[in-house]
Amino acid sequence: MALERSALEAAGKRYRDEGISRRVRGIAVSAIKEIPLLAQKVPGCVSLGQGISSFPTPEHIVDAVCRHLRESVWTGKYTLGPGLPALRRAFADMLVRERGLWVDPDTEICITVGAMEGLCATVLTLIEPGDEVLLPSPNYASHIEQVLLAEGIPVFFPLKPATWQLDLDALGHAISPRTKAIIICHPHNPTGAVFSKEDLLVVAQWALEHGFYIICDETYDFLTYDGKPYWSLLSMPELRRQVIGVFSFSKKYAMTGWRVGAVVAPADILDHVMKVHDAAAICAPTPSQVAALAALEGPQECVAHFRKTFQARRDRVCSFLDRMAPHLSYVKPQGAYYVMVKFPPQAGDSMTVALRLLHEARVITIPGSAFGPGGEGHVRLSFGSTEAELDEAMERLARWFEKNTA
Ligand SMILES: Cc1ncc(COP(=O)(O)O)c(C=O)c1O
Repeated sequence: MALERSALEAAGKRYRDEGISRRVRGIAVSAIKEIPLLAQKVPGCVSLGQGISSFPTPEHIVDAVCRHLRESVWTGKYTLGPGLPALRRAFADMLVRERGLWVDPDTEICITVGAMEGLCATVLTLIEPGDEVLLPSPNYASHIEQVLLAEGIPVFFPLKPATWQLDLDALGHAISPRTKAIIICHPHNPTGAVFSKEDLLVVAQWALEHGFYIICDETYDFLTYDGKPYWSLLSMPELRRQVIGVFSFSKKYAMTGWRVGAVVAPADILDHVMKVHDAAAICAPTPSQVAALAALEGPQECVAHFRKTFQARRDRVCSFLDRMAPHLSYVKPQGAYYVMVKFPPQAGDSMTVALRLLHEARVITIPGSAFGPGGEGHVRLSFGSTEAELDEAMERLARWFEKNTA
């Protein structure tokens, strides 16, 4: 069964079981998407829910797609499965430029329908029924569902609640002879943690000793604050045979709706990922691939602008939260655009609190339980929205928590 309590079921939706596969009965639409679905029926909501950036897609990207659609008939047709050759080359060039990472654009990169399809194809490629997959807790909800879809077993190891850094003792104990992979995402959704290189090197050591795969979800690789350096296990040549990187254009270029991402993997693994990609998607949408190419080849100032603005929004939300102490507490995010907010136990469980916040305060938040057992007692706030929306939502939260937890 799905691990989280479904927001839709809590609100009265009943799922049919008869004739539905065990695999699919056992997963849930993540609460990150369920709560906004419920919110459609609640007028006047402000969203701190799904991680959608308020920025429009930069103009040069939109212009390139419009031009290609008008001038070239192939923009409306399928591409080759792994994606436009020019896009794969540009992506490989970016990896050299930004990461010092050399990959073969012909055999080691597949352009996917967002990071999400890349993650799903990778998990389905590597995980057999009964394989154990190590996941930090809390962790991005969809990683959990992808493991369950592959009939793998999510094995949670808690992050340290005081910092949300990796708890290496707990991780060490979670490794077993059935461990097939670990999924590491940082900057981390939902906590905003950026894991220390020292700790990641220990994970690398264990992966080498025990022979498990490392799936790196690089969705927020560009988004660290206060000049904090970002380092990924993808950069370790010793791990080259067992590390798979999954990238996204969604947040870096304000392209969440274009649905384009990439998988970077050793050629003999990517060959198999490609089979799942072909069965599920054929190829990423061609106009979106054109957009991704324009994003990589165009000016990069937008990325720096997004980073600077999100840092200011983080500070804005944190100063609101500081004023809400002692009702609420949090760990200041070092990256991504989320903060986990801990509320007092008398408010109820996190699903109850998120549903009450939706209906009574008219603020969309995500219940911490959606992110695995370590998320209970928290709600996740996204600070992707505009300053005006953040201010309104935070005022509403302050009033609600004061009334309900004093
Ligand atoms: C950690 C993480 N991975 C993957 C995704 C999905 O990214 P994409 O839009 O590229 O599918 C998200 C989206 O919020 C995310 O937070």
